[in-house]
Amino acid sequence: MAAATQPALTERPSWRALHSHFEQVRNLHLRKLFADDPARGERMTAEGAGIFLDYSKNRITGETLHLLLELAEEAGLRTHIDAMFRGDKINITEKRAVLHTALRAPAGASILVDGENVVPEVHAVVDKMASFSERVRSGEWKGSTGKRLRNVINIGIGGSDLGPVMAYEALRHYSDRAMTFRFVSNVDGTDFAEAVQDLDAAETLFIISSKTFTTLETMTNAHSGRQWLLSKLGNDESAIAKHFVAVSTNAKEVGKFGIDTANMFGFWDWVGGRYSMDSAIGLSTMLAVGADGFRAMLDGFRQMDEHFRTTPFDRNLPVLMGLLGVWHTDFFGAQTVAVLPYEQYLKRFPAYLQQLTMESNGKHVTLSGTAVDYATGPVYWGEPGTNGQHSFYQLIHQGTRLIPCDFIAFAKTLNPLGRHHDMLMANVFAQTEALAFGKTLEQVRAEGTPDWLVPHRVFEGNRPSNTILADELTPQALGKLVALYEHCVFTQGVIWQINSFDQWGVELGKVLAQRIIPELESAAEPTLGHDTSTNNLIRRYRKLRS
Ligand code: F6P
Repeated sequence: MAAATQPALTERPSWRALHSHFEQVRNLHLRKLFADDPARGERMTAEGAGIFLDYSKNRITGETLHLLLELAEEAGLRTHIDAMFRGDKINITEKRAVLHTALRAPAGASILVDGENVVPEVHAVVDKMASFSERVRSGEWKGSTGKRLRNVINIGIGGSDLGPVMAYEALRHYSDRAMTFRFVSNVDGTDFAEAVQDLDAAETLFIISSKTFTTLETMTNAHSGRQWLLSKLGNDESAIAKHFVAVSTNAKEVGKFGIDTANMFGFWDWVGGRYSMDSAIGLSTMLAVGADGFRAMLDGFRQMDEHFRTTPFDRNLPVLMGLLGVWHTDFFGAQTVAVLPYEQYLKRFPAYLQQLTMESNGKHVTLSGTAVDYATGPVYWGEPGTNGQHSFYQLIHQGTRLIPCDFIAFAKTLNPLGRHHDMLMANVFAQTEALAFGKTLEQVRAEGTPDWLVPHRVFEGNRPSNTILADELTPQALGKLVALYEHCVFTQGVIWQINSFDQWGVELGKVLAQRIIPELESAAEPTLGHDTSTNNLIRRYRKLRS
């Protein structure tokens, strides 16, 4: 399927207008923008699906916003949103629909893929997950020796790991504390060894999560899991049926591995790996928090989907965040975005977002295959606050790079403990204030600072940030937050005219590794045909290893 030709991004009238506008506003300071507009802090906010976004501390004027919204219109964002939700095959390089939104569609909805309504199938899988989870959680589903299964190990990587880990950590408060959850992803054997070292195999359930069921890391770990379990349970092959389930789109490979396909939870090629935490890939999440919790999370996703699909762009959270990201990336030249959750349970959220954002929008050609002549997806990174404040915030405040930040916070804590939560929130507000307004030379001098020290203590300010505020971290709120970023990524992909849904950039390394594996494993010295550096490293490794 060829991409419909559209005017190059840099030829769009709004893009050109943004360029001249940028020249006028690039040096405006947030101090002035706030001083000139007493209502700015209230006006430049939006609320959707119960999530509040304050975007007033970005270096924008009303005109910037107007032009960015015009850009969204010119890019046909509305048409693209409709095409995605409808199930058009917008992932043109893989000829696939992009329908993670169907994973949370209500039971009565109809979404057609190749003429077939996929919604009933989606609900059937959730029901099957629910009944399995219930049996495991209640102890009805037992291990091969008759013991209750208390340990769950999810083996997967990328989208088959990051979503499950992040969601487990995020929703730990709601999880069954009598159960232990571990996540093995790395082909480094340490990951597996450490995950199982204190577990009783008779009480352990493995979920092998892989969309393709061919991924090197996952299959290697799955085979190690199989061996470990069999060695601990008297090499009784029949134990596999009680201790292994699979989540995949590839029934054939699941069967070959030895897992009964009755114990397989399916999903579909129209769910991208990094968009799959709310599919059967979330089985570990459901085992942790129960079916009701999982359904509440789906409901949160759905609410944000509806907000994105129906809200005018000037009040649409993912659209606003997406456009501001384009403004920072392509006009201010920002290379990264820091995601700073002030919520310890979201400690894996930045890592999760790295795959979502960077595998999606780390692209160098447009849908029609021409090289882009503007920057696309920025690097996402971050750590929970307040920890980061005592580490890398120095560079954000006084370094030479512009780093837009997303602060994420919740009004209520799940662990009320003395004054902790007010202190945490005070730090969120203080950081965004300090970043935006800084501290001038005059202020530093007025504090009696010696002249030689003054420059070191000046904070330029004018550092942009969003503040995302929600009520409380619930399964529903988590769904909303993830969908917010999914749709923000989509918005940016549409503006940049790229395919946010393929990932060809991961292929080359995989192919080369497959070629090198036998060169490391062969007993005889292999004839190497790489560059001299790679040849030398391989030889050195072979020597050192022995
Ligand atoms: O290598 C990248 C990738 O294909 C991701 O897109 C995906 O989430 C991950 O590998 C795992 O793939 P699978 O679920 O098929 O094992």
